[in-house]
Amino acid sequence: MKIVTTVEELRGQLRGQLRTAFVPTMGNLHAGHLSLMRLAAKHGDPVVASIFVNRLQFGPKDDFERYPRTFQSDCDKLEAEGVYVLFAPDEREMYPEPQEYRVDPPKALGDVLEGEFRPGFFIGVTTVVLKLFSCVQPRAAIFGKKDYQQLMIIRRMCRQFSLPTEIIAAETVRAADGLALSSRNGYLSEAERAEAPTLYAELQSVASAVCQDGGRDLAGLERAASDRLRGRGWRPDYVAIRKRSDLTVPGADDRARGDPLVVLTAAWLGATRLIDNLEI
Ligand code: PAJ
Repeated sequence: MKIVTTVEELRGQLRGQLRTAFVPTMGNLHAGHLSLMRLAAKHGDPVVASIFVNRLQFGPKDDFERYPRTFQSDCDKLEAEGVYVLFAPDEREMYPEPQEYRVDPPKALGDVLEGEFRPGFFIGVTTVVLKLFSCVQPRAAIFGKKDYQQLMIIRRMCRQFSLPTEIIAAETVRAADGLALSSRNGYLSEAERAEAPTLYAELQSVASAVCQDGGRDLAGLERAASDRLRGRGWRPDYVAIRKRSDLTVPGADDRARGDPLVVLTAAWLGATRLIDNLEI
């Protein structure tokens, strides 16, 4: 695996490649990230990964400084997956001057759910992803459904800017007890780690309630799930049942048509914020 840290070296390595498949990450790689590398290999060649902890997408109170950085073991894992190039720029390389031009996702998609609780988050994500795409020029790029809203916002960005990159969605990889793998799981204490699978269990119970009783009172189901989480010591930011197509609240017409839904959640367990979702 070639490890390159500058855009110039990256372009040199990829010159003439027309079928590159790209997986952007912030490192601290786990089996979820590695499943994306494997999916990438099915959608293009060579496979290029990036590791860059993107300050632009962290708010002032977020965990940018303490975000886990495990570069050497990440490299070993990527090498074992047969990744061809790892692009690992530092901040000076990615942002040699203040990043004044930014992507501004539509408010209806970018300022709800995660965007409501993390203002500016999706501006930071789309800006760095557009910039990474411009460096790598991939034919395909892989994103996890674990970050459902991110995947959707990036897909729309590509469509609206006519980018030549196909966005491929990867299923969420979970621990045996259901907890979605995440770099932030490492922040959990032993007791919190034991409690953490409850988040996915709640998503499953919301999903089955929607299926069983036709889910007439979706807001009631959301509230009940939030209350149950609160009762177990969680501080939920949201539990939301939305349309898969645009993450808006489903109306009676949508329900009658059987529009596909997704239930999304973000909740704090102690000092750690976990997110998860489940397609219904
Ligand atoms: P990061 O959190 O490192 O995630 C990188 C990719 O891995 C994302 O597409 C994410 O959805 C996917 N992923 C994370 N956990 C997963 C799991 N358990 N199963 C499957 N896929 C999983 O998301 C980011 O980085 C950043 O916002 C980034 C897109 C790199 C821009 O900075």
